[in-house]
Amino acid sequence: MTGRLQGKIALISGAGSGIGRAAAQQFAAEGAKVAVLDLSADAAKETADIVASTGGTAIAVIANVSVAAEVNAAVEEAVAQLGAINVLYNNAGVDSTGSIDVAEESDWDRCFNVNAKGTYLLSRAVIPHMEATGGGSIVNQGSVAALVAVPNFAAYCAAKGAVVSLTRSMAIDCAPKGIRVNAICPGTVFTPLMEPMLRARGGGDLEAGLAKTIAKYPIGRLGTTEDIAAVALFLSSDDSGFMTGSIVTADGGMTAQ
Ligand SMILES: NC(=O)c1ccc[n+]([C@@H]2O[C@H](COP(=O)([O-])OP(=O)(O)OC[C@H]3O[C@@H](n4cnc5c(N)ncnc54)[C@H](O)[C@@H]3O)[C@@H](O)[C@H]2O)c1
Repeated sequence: MTGRLQGKIALISGAGSGIGRAAAQQFAAEGAKVAVLDLSADAAKETADIVASTGGTAIAVIANVSVAAEVNAAVEEAVAQLGAINVLYNNAGVDSTGSIDVAEESDWDRCFNVNAKGTYLLSRAVIPHMEATGGGSIVNQGSVAALVAVPNFAAYCAAKGAVVSLTRSMAIDCAPKGIRVNAICPGTVFTPLMEPMLRARGGGDLEAGLAKTIAKYPIGRLGTTEDIAAVALFLSSDDSGFMTGSIVTADGGMTAQ
């Protein structure tokens, strides 16, 4: 299927790597012009170049999603270059390890600032542009860690829980503006974000950590970046036109147990 985002302008945060990069590729392949937002200028440019190399349209915009002035400037730049944004994928995120009794205050703050506050700031900046064009779709990146406890991940579980609650709140407030808001809760995907956690789970042995993690997934494998990007594409497109406030798991059955 092609053209599901034909004529749309999409902004994807954290698109310099992992799931966000896969989403930039899939969204562009379906016709969207994509603003690739990332903290890393090199990573964002690399994604934009990958999209361009396959005939798509993408620009790199740089911002720390937890800094309002940077977010506002990046959104204005994206709108100036591509046009009003119709699709926002709040994908940028960071994790942190540690149970609540040992979690560092700085890790707690970083987790909430990027995952939760970043979603708020970027949505706040984009919503007026979406509203001006009659509506749009926002997809927030949650995690299975928002739905079930993941050991030694206290700050991350709490911050992703905030993203899920924020999604429901945004959905009812934005519905009259024609803006749908849904969240994805992915299970484990092997990306740079997850490698330290997987290695730690294996006592320093990545293969052992992977095996232990896969054992938790009824489907018998971890997710891929493409698996999650495909769900984001569905939620961004008119195919999901009657969905808002939905919390969609993409986790190989992990939370069904
Ligand atoms: N990988 C998984 O197993 C998994 C599972 C569930 C949810 N998630 C969520 O999916 C999202 C993407 O994860 P990923 O695995 O692709 O990670 P990743 O580390 O591969 O990519 C994250 C990107 O976000 C960017 N980023 C980080 N902080 C930023 C900030 N403050 N401002 C702007 N950009 C920033 C990074 O530079 C990086 O390019 C995250 O929200 C993560 O929590 C991932």
